[in-house]
Amino acid sequence: MTEKMSDQIISALENRFACKSYDPAGHVSDSDFNTILEAGRLSPSSFGLEPWKFLVIQDRDLIDEIRARSWGIKMDADRTVILLTRRSVNARSTWVHRILHDIQGYLQEDEIARLEKLEAFQRDDLHILDSDRTLFDWAGKQTYLALSNMLTTAALLGIDSTPIEGFSAERMNALLSERGLIDPEEWGISAMVQFGIHDPNHRPHPKQRRPFTEVVEYVRPRPQVRSGVTAGL
Ligand SMILES: Cc1cc2nc3c(=O)[nH]c(=O)nc-3n(C[C@H](O)[C@H](O)[C@H](O)COP(=O)(O)O)c2cc1C
Repeated sequence: MTEKMSDQIISALENRFACKSYDPAGHVSDSDFNTILEAGRLSPSSFGLEPWKFLVIQDRDLIDEIRARSWGIKMDADRTVILLTRRSVNARSTWVHRILHDIQGYLQEDEIARLEKLEAFQRDDLHILDSDRTLFDWAGKQTYLALSNMLTTAALLGIDSTPIEGFSAERMNALLSERGLIDPEEWGISAMVQFGIHDPNHRPHPKQRRPFTEVVEYVRPRPQVRSGVTAGL
């Protein structure tokens, strides 16, 4: 009998761990790697603005330079991806215009209405137009959804992974800019992620998580009080 889908998902999520050491012979096939990248590309984002880009780093020298700017993670996995976040994603940006017009197919009047909605949402509801930083962090939240989908997809494929944000963002952006990989006015790094097969001698810690009943709270319908009847009688 085949394992139930729900069991497969939970088992993949339980077995996923932040891998710290990889098997040098462990290879992630192009097909699996593309599936992981597709999972990132197909991720949801607020207003569907996809404020991300994934840099697949195949240059080992660059990975060495990245390691030198990180907290000491080995970065010895087969595949390395840098998740970039778009800056200044607001109603006046060419980025948003391109997404609404070219990708989502908005025509002029509808696009203007959508832009007004975005502007009001960013300004009044989330207050993220207060600074470049608040706007960048909001876009970065979307990027982390892509990261999360990549991690889950890898786990389902039996591939190990490491999300990484232990680095100096300033130094990393400078490095990527020096290499001509980003215009730092337009893009900033949010996180990195590696994919590979864990070193067989590297054992993950048992999962440490708060209990389900602490994390999940059900909010049940409020008891109906009939008008004219005193509650409790
Ligand atoms: C966005 C993000 C960034 C992370 N950055 C690092 C990192 O730089 N170095 C590291 O050793 N672990 C990093 N981790 C791994 C976490 O410490 C790890 O996921 C957490 O302790 C839970 O353990 P588990 O993933 O093995 O279940 C990161 C995790 C996430 C989600």
